[in-house]
Amino acid sequence: MKPIKVGLLGLGTVGGGTANVLSRNAQEIARRAGREIRVTHAAAREVIPALNTEGIDICDDAFAVVNNPEIDIVVELIGGYDPARQLVLQAIENGKHVVTANKALIALHGNEIFEAAQKKGVMVAFEAGVAGGIPIIKALREGLAANQIEWLAGIINGTGNFILTEMRDKGRDFSDVLAEAQALGYAEADPTFDVEGIDAAHKLTILASIAFGVPLQFEKTYTEGISKITREDVNYAEQLGYRIKHLGVTRKTEKGIELRVHPTLIPERRLIANVDGVMNAVLVQGDAVGPTLYYGAGAGSEPTASAVVADVIDVARTMTVDPENRVPHLAFQPNALSDTPVLAMEQIVTAYYLRMQAVDRPGVLAEVTQILGEQGISIEAMIQKEPAEGESIASIIMLTQRVVESQMNEAIRRIEQLDVIEGDITRIRLEQLDK
Ligand code: HSE
Repeated sequence: MKPIKVGLLGLGTVGGGTANVLSRNAQEIARRAGREIRVTHAAAREVIPALNTEGIDICDDAFAVVNNPEIDIVVELIGGYDPARQLVLQAIENGKHVVTANKALIALHGNEIFEAAQKKGVMVAFEAGVAGGIPIIKALREGLAANQIEWLAGIINGTGNFILTEMRDKGRDFSDVLAEAQALGYAEADPTFDVEGIDAAHKLTILASIAFGVPLQFEKTYTEGISKITREDVNYAEQLGYRIKHLGVTRKTEKGIELRVHPTLIPERRLIANVDGVMNAVLVQGDAVGPTLYYGAGAGSEPTASAVVADVIDVARTMTVDPENRVPHLAFQPNALSDTPVLAMEQIVTAYYLRMQAVDRPGVLAEVTQILGEQGISIEAMIQKEPAEGESIASIIMLTQRVVESQMNEAIRRIEQLDVIEGDITRIRLEQLDK
């Protein structure tokens, strides 16, 4: 059989890793795919050092690769929205299959891209876009296909998890750890995508669509990053038996779908609370299987290449299959996607960690708890730290039971107006992740 010819767009961290893995494991891959898979062309402005480019025709024009009639599969590893979107659409138009690690592209333009691919009968595979080397797309789309997915929660940004872990374990400075993550090739080109939760929101958007069979709706994903997390909050959370992780959470409720990315307290005894460094993990609750947990490297050259190459092999195996019988891009048949609404953040229900600075005098706590009581908010645990020597402001830390976010917003608004409360209240959502 003729080899399958791959055109790589990008030879940076992931592109270089992909070329290396395809060449190093060529024999094993051919045994799996049933055909040799060869990178014949690549478009790149820069080539990572130590990459063996023998046999690869390298140019700097990505459109030339996409328009090359010899190429069967285009692997888009440039990232970003443009020109990635045009390149992918052009590849589809040319009847080529596409593999991409570009979560931003899929989250924002996936509906359009999949529709175009459907019309042309080609595949667009994007395993590497979510949670690096963890085969979470395959697990959700195929392994868990029998289930109604009830919810999933994931640590899906390696850079953010690396920063939180280093801050907690080594007391390192935020910017210092971020610089290291950039040097290691974990961080996005624009690292605010990592620290402000945008990258995680891209990934959660994709996971939610595949879990619940709804169109991709990035614009409805609530996104909050880790840049405001302080060491104080990390320490108080630990005293209360919790870890702070940056989670993407999506849940199907009777009213609609929750779609949210934010720092979250989770009980330290949960396995996912112990996922540290650049590692990612996704906890999925299915009605038949119960909870399942997927863990692995969420970023980095060869871990991400592992997912890219698996997609290339998948495409190679199914190229001859009738398009109607392939696994649908979003797990559900395109004509069976549902219009279940995405809930506004005010409608979601979670527990909370609250930290406030209060004047240390009798009756203050009563004023605070009265407001919480009036808003139907029950307190689960509390710590009060006496003021530092010579000061009169005490820190009050509370964990609450689950409540609708709009009620918590109102409670916080009223408490912040009290004369005895100084500054803003810190609020971090809390999830037990047990049902
Ligand atoms: N910047 C991403 C991360 C890369 O840190 O997780 C993998 O998508």
